[in-house]
Amino acid sequence: MTADSKPKTVLYRVLRFEPEGSSNPRWQEYTIPYTSGLTVLDGLWVIKEGVDPSLVWRSSCRMGICGSCGMFINGLPRLSCNTQISELGSSTVEVAPLPNFDILRDLVPDLGPMFDHHQALSPFILRPDREELEKPTAEYYQSSAEMERYLQFSYCIKCASCIAACPTVATDPVYSGPMPLAQAQRYNTDTRDDGFDIRKLALRGPQGPWRCHFAGECSRVCPKGVDPAKAIQLLRRDLVADYLRLRRPTPPAAVVEKPDDIARRPDIPEAPPATV
Ligand code: SF4
Ligand code: FES
Repeated sequence: MTADSKPKTVLYRVLRFEPEGSSNPRWQEYTIPYTSGLTVLDGLWVIKEGVDPSLVWRSSCRMGICGSCGMFINGLPRLSCNTQISELGSSTVEVAPLPNFDILRDLVPDLGPMFDHHQALSPFILRPDREELEKPTAEYYQSSAEMERYLQFSYCIKCASCIAACPTVATDPVYSGPMPLAQAQRYNTDTRDDGFDIRKLALRGPQGPWRCHFAGECSRVCPKGVDPAKAIQLLRRDLVADYLRLRRPTPPAAVVEKPDDIARRPDIPEAPPATV
């Protein structure tokens, strides 16, 4: 859309769904004025505040961080707050709830099954030293290189776009899907974690990475640059290595004695002497 061809108005086609209604889902159209920089979410607010207060969706931060505003916009899962009308190349905006989820109302998907799968894979650091975890006496050392191994997976904001794009999730509700599997890999790879043997109990089953057909759509649509398809392949590699007893368990990171030890880390250059 060039500056000259900017539309004066935008046509929104919104999929409406009322759980108590009889004629749904159904498309409803709204025409609103176009302003430069208008995002899909901004347009929904214009409709709600000036035209139809009954329209329902989920959003919060308006800055691509909270992950709550995922919608199916002009045929792709996207964050509505992070999608400008101008980048759609059309003056018609078609908005539906994310596919592969039940609809609670209008544009609000039921993300419960996704978070059930997520929780079942223990997406947090597991360690045997509970006493140290509950009453820490020092820190768990981790180098920058060790952090790099899982960093991209930690950028996930749980927006569910990857689940909505996954053809395996579309046909198999038992399969965990890209986000939960990427988060399992994120924690398996963390040198402070010792939970591989617990997570693998679930990962070896039908909810694990083996049902993935490697369509790669999850990584294509992720708005945060996470590569869940890669995480799923790494999970497969690690499960096979574990089965063949080739996987060297990552030992829990050493506990340093006191914060001063940070200065002795090999990855942090020594500070220059203080000058007066
Ligand atoms: S991996 Fe990407 S697309 Fe999937 S939930 Fe996380 S941020 Fe969203
Ligand atoms: S409103 Fe938070 S990511 Fe869009």
